[in-house]
Amino acid sequence: MSSKTIRVALIGVGGVCTHVHYPGFSRIPGVEIVGICDPDASLRERRSREWGVQACFEDVDDLLREMKPDAVVIATPNCTHRLLILKAFAAGSHALCEKPLGMNLQETKEILEATQKTKLRHMTAFTYRFVPAMNYLRYLVHSGALGEIRHARFQRLQDWGERAIGWRQYYDQAGSGELGDMGIHRIDFAEELLGPITSLCAHTKQWAARDLTNSGEPCPPQDVEDWVAWIAQFENGTTGVFEMGKLTKGFGPRGDHDQAELNGTKASAVYQLHNPHQILFSNRGESYRIRPVPAEFLKRSDSPRDPNEGDPLIRFRYDQAWEFISAIREGRECTPSFYHGMRAQAVADAILAAAESRKWIDIKF
Ligand SMILES: NC(=O)c1ccc[n+]([C@@H]2O[C@H](COP(=O)([O-])OP(=O)(O)OC[C@H]3O[C@@H](n4cnc5c(N)ncnc54)[C@H](O)[C@@H]3O)[C@@H](O)[C@H]2O)c1
Repeated sequence: MSSKTIRVALIGVGGVCTHVHYPGFSRIPGVEIVGICDPDASLRERRSREWGVQACFEDVDDLLREMKPDAVVIATPNCTHRLLILKAFAAGSHALCEKPLGMNLQETKEILEATQKTKLRHMTAFTYRFVPAMNYLRYLVHSGALGEIRHARFQRLQDWGERAIGWRQYYDQAGSGELGDMGIHRIDFAEELLGPITSLCAHTKQWAARDLTNSGEPCPPQDVEDWVAWIAQFENGTTGVFEMGKLTKGFGPRGDHDQAELNGTKASAVYQLHNPHQILFSNRGESYRIRPVPAEFLKRSDSPRDPNEGDPLIRFRYDQAWEFISAIREGRECTPSFYHGMRAQAVADAILAAAESRKWIDIKF
């Protein structure tokens, strides 16, 4: 394993970079944040001051040429991911990119093709794979503790209100609405738990106009869905029922609902994001009981994070940075990689096609 300092640059220093990537990478010994890039000058200046990073760039080409980072984190609107990844690879930088990896399946295939021409590491930021309760659920499923999984249900329900939500509400910047924002994570962890989805049917709805900003100024209305549901058939025989929505009152800030429930032939288990250090478990004939996540699943092995420190709803996210850096140091593939980003996008594209055609669709890529 290499002990050389890994020089990381952050591209896009908005919400997720501030809450997840900067704190995650800045905690890892032997990692240096060497530069930041964002077209928003006042945000750039603020982050530079807060983080003590001197090298700040408006343009990614300047960042890559002047700083020559070993690795970049791409945390920008979805429409920019493909080009930024290609530029990072051309400059010889490993890339961790936010989800959804691209705007559609075609883009993610092009991204995956680019990985095949390089030995650089690549990772899709499917953050919820790192929730301690998800680590434990994965172990239970794969060790056979639940038996054969017959039914599974996945829900992400939130209340974002009806005002504008920026680039996320426009097809040409986001590629889709709730599906790419929240649904894509659930596609990814459902497939990690249960294997490939082979076919599905789906429905989408757009309710909110979102034609007023938070301060009440008019803006172009949204043109993407704010609710999506699908029924999926997995290759292993499991049937999954998924529902995601941004307008579900009762699930306001900190009351976000993110749940995965698996019903197997031996037992059932439930993951809930808001209780990241426990699951619900029941054998046949019992009601659900709380089962604490055993210590070995509370963080990724060797991660420097103390799972008992800080807000457990936030801190697990830092293990994502640890996985990326560990893969670079150990010269191995990241999990989840850009392959997983492409795979989830194939399912997402099928969901939109199924909703549009009102037919079951087979997953192809
Ligand atoms: N994994 C997760 O849990 C998670 C959570 C939130 C957001 N995301 C994803 O992260 C990405 C960013 O979301 P966000 O909420 O931080 O958005 P944001 O709007 O808060 O921040 C995006 C930043 O990117 C900057 N930017 C735009 N174009 C750029 C370019 N070409 N080069 C450099 N910077 C550029 C913007 O100025 C902005 O500061 C999206 O793809 C989103 O889907 C993932």
